[in-house]
Amino acid sequence: MKISVFGLGYVGSVSAACLAARGHVVVGVDVNPAKVGFIAGGQAPVVEERIGELTADVVRRGALRATTDVAAAVAETEISLVCVGTPSAPNGSLSTTYLERVAEQIGTVLAGKDEWHTVVFRSTMLPGTCSGLLIPILEKASGKTAGVDFGVAVNPEFLREGSSVRDFFEPPKTVIGSHDPVSADLVARLYEGLPGEVFRVSIPVAEMTKYADNSFHGLKAAFANELGAICHALGVDSHQVMDVFVADRKLNVSPAYLRPGFAFGGSCLPKDLRGLVYAARRADVSVPLLSHVLPSNEEHLKRAFDLVTASGRRRIGLFGLSFKPGTDDLRESPLVELAERLVGKGYDLRIYDANVTLSRLIGANRDYIEGRLPHLGDLLSNSVDDVLAHAEVCVVGCTEPAVLRALDAAGDRMIVDLVRLPDAQKRRATDGYVGLGW
Ligand SMILES: NC(=O)c1ccc[n+]([C@@H]2O[C@H](COP(=O)([O-])OP(=O)(O)OC[C@H]3O[C@@H](n4cnc5c(N)ncnc54)[C@H](O)[C@@H]3O)[C@@H](O)[C@H]2O)c1
Repeated sequence: MKISVFGLGYVGSVSAACLAARGHVVVGVDVNPAKVGFIAGGQAPVVEERIGELTADVVRRGALRATTDVAAAVAETEISLVCVGTPSAPNGSLSTTYLERVAEQIGTVLAGKDEWHTVVFRSTMLPGTCSGLLIPILEKASGKTAGVDFGVAVNPEFLREGSSVRDFFEPPKTVIGSHDPVSADLVARLYEGLPGEVFRVSIPVAEMTKYADNSFHGLKAAFANELGAICHALGVDSHQVMDVFVADRKLNVSPAYLRPGFAFGGSCLPKDLRGLVYAARRADVSVPLLSHVLPSNEEHLKRAFDLVTASGRRRIGLFGLSFKPGTDDLRESPLVELAERLVGKGYDLRIYDANVTLSRLIGANRDYIEGRLPHLGDLLSNSVDDVLAHAEVCVVGCTEPAVLRALDAAGDRMIVDLVRLPDAQKRRATDGYVGLGW
C-alpha cells in the first residue's frame, strides 16, 4: 500500500519505518524540517532499539522518504496515518491542536482528490474526539462526507518507547475503530500476518482502549510501589510478596475483577483494605492510592443510589441482597447498604434474593443484618413475581435465572442494572433502562 505518515515522532517514525520494512511504500510528513532531514539522510529522528538500521535500510531501498509537503503526500498515497502529538494542556486536558491542524490540512487536499482516501488516527485521543471534532473538520475542509467520499478510522498505537520496533512486529493486539468497513479492511491489511488478536470496534471504543490500558498500567505501578513502601516499613521483602502475587493467574493477573459492575463488599475486601491502610498510617507510610480504594467504592455505591432516586419513583424492587451470587453472606454487602439508604429515605422497598431466607440467617451474618436492616422480614419476599408486581423501579443486583425470567415481563418499569444483564447491550438503547457503568 502507499501510505503517508503524519508526525515523525516516536510513534510516526517507528510506524513509518516498520511499515516500509513490511513492503509498503511510505512517505513521512512532519512540520519540523529537521525530522524530515533525518529521514532524508537515512537516519531515524528518534533513538530506539533497531530503529537506526531499519530506517537506513528502508530509505536506501526507496521504501521510505519524508517531506513537509502535505498536498503531495496525500495525493500520492491511499491511506494517511496521523501520529502527531496530543500533549497535556496546562490544565491537564488533552491538547488536540496538532490533530485539528492535520485534519484541516488533509481535508483541504481531499477536496481536490478523486480517488478514495482513508485517514487513520493513531494518536491517543479521548472518546468523542474523532467523531465530534476531527471528522467535522475533515468534512468542512474537503466539502465531502466521511464514510461516503473518504474513510476514517481510529487505530491506537500500543508500542512502548525503548522496545517500539519489537512491539510493532509483536503487538499485544490490534484495535481498529471505524464506521465504514472499507477503511477497517484497509487498516487490517496494514498489519496482516502480525501476531495478536484484532478487534474491530466502534470509534469511541477504540479511542477509549488506550486510556483503559495506560491508566491501568499507571495503577499497577502505583499499587506495586505503595505495597513495596508498606512492606519496607514492616520489614518484609516486597519482591518475594509480588513473586507470589503475580504467580496467581486466577485472581490476580487475570481478567477477574475487571468488568465494571456494582460496588465490591463482603466480609474480606473492605476489612482487609481498612486493615492495610491503618497499618500504613501507623508506620507513617503515605498510600494515597490504597487509601482511596474504599472511598472510590463508596462513590460507586452513591452512583447507584442516585440512579434510583433520579427515577422520581418511590416503589422499588431490589433483586439480590447478598454481597455476591451464590451466597447468603450479607456482611458488608453493598446491596444491603443500598437498601438501607433507600429505606432511610422513605422509599417503599421490596427485596428478592433466592439465597437469603431470614429464618436461616445465623451468627455474625444475622447480627449484621439485624443492625443494618432490622425490618428485613417485612421487606424480603420469596416470590420474585411479587417483588416485580410491587416495583416501579427494578434495581437488579443479581442474574439468577428466576430474576432474568421475571425481568422479561418488566414491561415499562424502569430498570437500574447494577450487574450488566446478559441482554444489556440490547437494552441500553431502550427507554427506561439504565446501566451503572455501561
Ligand atoms: N510515545 C509513545 O510511546 C506513544 C505510544 C502510543 C501512543 N502514543 C501517542 O501517539 C501520539 C504521538 O506520540 P509521539 O510520542 O510520537 O509524539 P512526538 O511528540 O514524539 O511526535 C509528534 C510529531 O508530530 C509532528 N507534528 C505536529 N504537527 C504536525 C503537522 N501538522 N503535520 C505533521 N507533523 C506534525 C511534530 O513535529 C512531531 O515530530 C500521541 O498522541 C501519543 O499520546 C505515543
